[in-house]
Order: sequence, then C-alpha cells, then structure tokens
Amino acid sequence: MIKSQYESQTEILRFTTVGSVDDGKSTLIGRLLSETNNIYEDQLEAVANVAKRKGEEEIDLALLTDGLAAEREQGITIDVAYRYFQTAKRKFIIADTPGHVQYTRNMVTGASTANLAIILIDARKGILEQSKRHGFIASLLQVPHLIVCVNKMDLVEYSQDTYQTIVDDYDKFSKKLEIKDVTYIPVSALKGDNITSKSESTKWYDGPTLLHVLENVHVSADTNLLDFRFPIQYVIRPDHTFRGYAGKIVSGSITPGEEVAILPSGKRSKVKEIITYDGNLEEASAPFSVVITLEDEIDISRGDMIVRCHNVPEIDRNFDAIICWMSDDHLKVGKNYLIKHTTKTIKGFVSKLDYTIDVNTLHRKSATSLELNEIARVEISATQPLILDSYNKNRSTGSFILIDPDSNFTVGVGMIREPLQTLEEKLQGELSVAGVVDRATNVTKENIAVSLEKREKRNGHKAAVIWLTGLSGSGKSTIAKNLDEALFNLNCHTAILDGDNVRHGLCRDLGFSDKERNENIRRVSEAAKILYDHGSIVICTFISPSRKQRDEARDLFPDDRFFEVFVRCSLKACIHRDPKGLYKKAIDGKIPEFTGITAPYDEPLSPEIIVDTEHTSREDAVQEVIDKIREKGIIG
Ligand code: ADX
Repeated sequence: MIKSQYESQTEILRFTTVGSVDDGKSTLIGRLLSETNNIYEDQLEAVANVAKRKGEEEIDLALLTDGLAAEREQGITIDVAYRYFQTAKRKFIIADTPGHVQYTRNMVTGASTANLAIILIDARKGILEQSKRHGFIASLLQVPHLIVCVNKMDLVEYSQDTYQTIVDDYDKFSKKLEIKDVTYIPVSALKGDNITSKSESTKWYDGPTLLHVLENVHVSADTNLLDFRFPIQYVIRPDHTFRGYAGKIVSGSITPGEEVAILPSGKRSKVKEIITYDGNLEEASAPFSVVITLEDEIDISRGDMIVRCHNVPEIDRNFDAIICWMSDDHLKVGKNYLIKHTTKTIKGFVSKLDYTIDVNTLHRKSATSLELNEIARVEISATQPLILDSYNKNRSTGSFILIDPDSNFTVGVGMIREPLQTLEEKLQGELSVAGVVDRATNVTKENIAVSLEKREKRNGHKAAVIWLTGLSGSGKSTIAKNLDEALFNLNCHTAILDGDNVRHGLCRDLGFSDKERNENIRRVSEAAKILYDHGSIVICTFISPSRKQRDEARDLFPDDRFFEVFVRCSLKACIHRDPKGLYKKAIDGKIPEFTGITAPYDEPLSPEIIVDTEHTSREDAVQEVIDKIREKGIIG
C-alpha cells in the first residue's frame, strides 16, 4: 500500500501576477522564464531577431508573453492565461491576468487558487490606486503570500530612498488589510536585477531574489489540512458489489477506519478504503482526487459531502458573503441565479445588498444593484441547504460562483463570511466568535415589502445610526435625549437605544463580563439594524468599551450611514460627576469590572465625531452632531 500521494509529487506553487498596463509584468514573466531556461531556443531566437531588426541592444522579453495582448486586440477574450514552468526545486503555474482597471474580475479569477500574488509597482510612479486595489483583492481572496516587486529600479538609479518610501507606504496599507506575509523586492525586470540573481546595483538590499522567494516560500502550510472535506463528484457503481465515491479532497486528510459523517443526511459510517489509480492509500489528503468506499451501504449522491464526525461544517440556506460581480448585466436583488458550490449547483438569489466596497478607498457605499467589477457584501438565500465553511477557514467550501440561468455565464464569485458556527459548536452550545450560538435553523428571511428607499423618500431624510460611545457619566444619555428632541423638532423619525434602558428589558439577562458586554452590543446592534431598515435615525448610547464590538456594529451598516460619536470626558471628570454614585461604589470594590476603574475602555481611533463634554455645552455638542449628519446628507 502507498503511504500518501506526496511521495510522488513535486511541490507546485501557483502564483498570479498583477500590475497595471506598462508596469512591466510581461517583461518580468519573460525574464523569469528565460533565466530559468523555460523558453525554447527558437522562441528566444525569434525575439532576438526582432531586437536586431530594430537595432536594439536588449531583447524585449515581453514579446515572449505578450501574445495575449495581440489576441485581445483582435477581440478574442482571454481573461487569464496560465503558464507553466519548472526549476530543479519546484513546478510553477502562473495565472497571468491583465491588470487594467476593468479587469478586477480577471484578477479575482487568477488569485482565487493562487498561493502567492506578485504585485508590480513602477518605481517611478510609486503606489497607484490600482496597486492598492490589487492588494485589497489579494487580501479578500486570502492569497497567503504577497510579493511586492518595485520594478524599473534602473530608471530611478537604483535609489534606496525611492524604494524605501514605496515599501513604507505600502506596508502601512497592507497592515490594514491584514495580509500576513508580504515580501518587498527591488527589481528591474528589463535588466534582470534581483530576479534570479542578486543585483550588483542594489548592494543596499539584503533580501532574497524573486526566484528565491518563489522557490522557497512555504506552501504546504497554506493548504487546510485540518478540516476534512470531501464533496462527492460521482458515485461509482459498476455493479451491485461495488460502491465508491469519487471526488477531490478539498481540505484535510483521512485514513481508512476513520469514522465519518455524510452530509446533509448526517448518517455515519467508517472509511473502508481509499482507492487511487496507483493503488490503495494509507492516508489521503488535499488537494488530491481519490475514490472512497465506506463500511456501510448509505444512500449518497453527487453534491453530498463526507466529513469527519467531530469536525463538521455549517449547513444553511442563508448566508452572508462578499461577492465580486463579473458581468455586464447588473446584479438584480431577488433574481434567481444558479449557485455553484463545491460539486453542487442549486437555485438561489441575493436577498439583500448590504453595501459595496470601493476597492480604491476601501470605503463602503449603499447600493441597490451591482455593476461589472464591483465588490459587495450581500446576503444569499438558496433553495436548498448548502454545506458551508467560511472562506477564512476554507477557500473551497467557503466559495461559490453565481451563474445566470438564462445565459449560463458566470456572473459573480462569492466568499462566504464569518460568523458561521459549525454544527459541532452548536451542539456543544459553545459561544462562537460573535458570542452567540445560532440555533435558528429552518428559518428564512422575509423581505420587507416597503423598501428603505421608499421610507426615506416619505420621511424626507435618510436612515442612519448615531452611535455614542464613552465612559459611564461622560454625558452620552444627556446628549442622546437632547439630540432626539432636536431631530424630532426637525420632523425626523428617530429611535433611542440606551444602555441603561435596554438592560431593563432586552438585555436584562446580561452582566458586564467581556462576553456579556459583547452580547449586549450584538443584540442592540441588531435592534438598531431593524430600526434602521425601517428608515429611522437610530441613536445608540452604550459605553461599548471594545473597539471590536463597535466595529462589528459598524459592519452592519453602509459606511456613510454609521456615525461613531466619541463622547469624550476624562475619567477624572466622570468620577467627579458620578451621577449614579457608581464610581464611588466601584472604587470601594463593590462593583466588579467597572469601565474605567477595573475594566478597560478602548478610545475610538477615528470616530466620525468627537464631542468633548468637559469643554463643550450640551447644546453645542448636539449641534455638532446635527451639523455633521447634515453635511453627510442624512438630513436636509
Ligand atoms: S456596555 O459596556 O455593555 O456598553 P452599557 O452602556 O450597556 O454598557 O451599560 C452601562 C450602564 O450600566 C452604565 O451607565 C452604568 O449605569 C451601568 N453599570 C452597571 N455596572 C457597570 C459596570 N460594571 N461597568 C459599566 N457600567 C455599569
């Protein structure tokens, strides 16, 4: 018996290259291919002849890869070109994607299976909007490794300062995106600096060459080897004596004898054999394709999934996702699309468009439909349950595509968002990241017949959330009351959600531990969402001490509709005011976990509004908030 497939496999690195037109992408790939001896003699000769004809000193390596450009000019659509090359150490698959503005969707296609993305920045131009867009998409698709090649160093005289400025700026940006592994390399694709050998011209650079990173980056750790997921592609039944299930192990590993569950039925059995063309295996793991047989006869069909009993995904018809729209036909909320997820294709629709994300600025905007290349957060409703993981956890079971049933074209790609709870977590009753166990199965979402737009039109103002955060006694409730009154007098529809009040009803079962505060904020955020969806200006006043809690609340709304107001007042002044006598009690040790005394408060980093109640009158504070929401177009 063979131990595992790895014995016979050379490791493959899949990478994608992105850059804008003229960043030198083709030259870079050409350089890589030629310096690793992956170009045929006659190809090289042909480009050398072109150079000779033109009387140029250097041969144009871009010609080796620019064939695509010509095809594109002829109107032949090639979205992503795959190239293969090999060195003694590794095999490589390059997904070469055009980097022009309208090609966001191509980059998404190329990056979706990549272990690594190379982003090219022209040293003379520095970081452009598109360089950020490329980074954003790489992070969205969770490409595990990123190489930023600062190219055309020869044209800036190999200036270390120029390079360093670009690196520092991009580093700041990539930290926001939480891209974990970023390597910066100063290169000249044209001259061959730091591509496969170290450049004499950048003596100040002590990092690796591009090829060195490509050959040595650790990719086996990128595969999710923990969560065994085996979506069934075919049931093989040549006769009544044999029944095997063929498919690709998309993540995790399995051995014969292990107990497994078959989803969605939940039936259990044990793995009998793992069969491959080369013989049976003692262990099989992602990303290999195998045939599995089970000890028991179970009714299983294509689209079902075999998983480990104690590590099961979510099964749900409704889920949140980020989608990238890839079609000239706009997305229509409520329209039926086909959802292709693992080996299953079923009907479904986008039930809600939460907001779009501007890939250049990362700002969110409210939207009612989606155009080509737009990225949005949406809610999806499928006609049957899907067996899902979040994309964070699993790039295969966490992604899907949307197909237009009329044209059969792929119109969108999606990534399923956290939080999703596994059945196991549900069964054990553990609190998830969101602090809540989702027990609401068999529920669907009803659409509100009167749309938010209609309500806003009649109200004469937009819906918004004004989230007041600050220490106890900082003046949140006072400002909220006065603000409510002022907006009411302006004929606005308002609602107040106040910490002390909700803790008498909706949240009366919650205390003040971190977990309970999280749950408090989660509930009131959801309540605010309902009120918002009905067109109100919702004033929320909660200490909401954790930045993460507040960000999670913010995440429920479009960017331009959520106003975080930091009601600032020094702890000293709050203790002095002590309107409810609570600080005294807390200092005397009679209230545990009291914010500011024995529990932390994270000050907002970039709130929309700061009101300083030590130095501003109540009226002025209210006016500041009103001015801000007027400036942002919430009220007229
Ligand atoms: S939060 O931290 O979960 O956002 P919330 O705003 O709902 O708090 O409630 C805060 C109110 O509860 C305070 O104004 C105060 O009156 C009361 N309270 C009672 N115990 C505490 C405590 N340990 N920390 C803070 N506030 C407390």
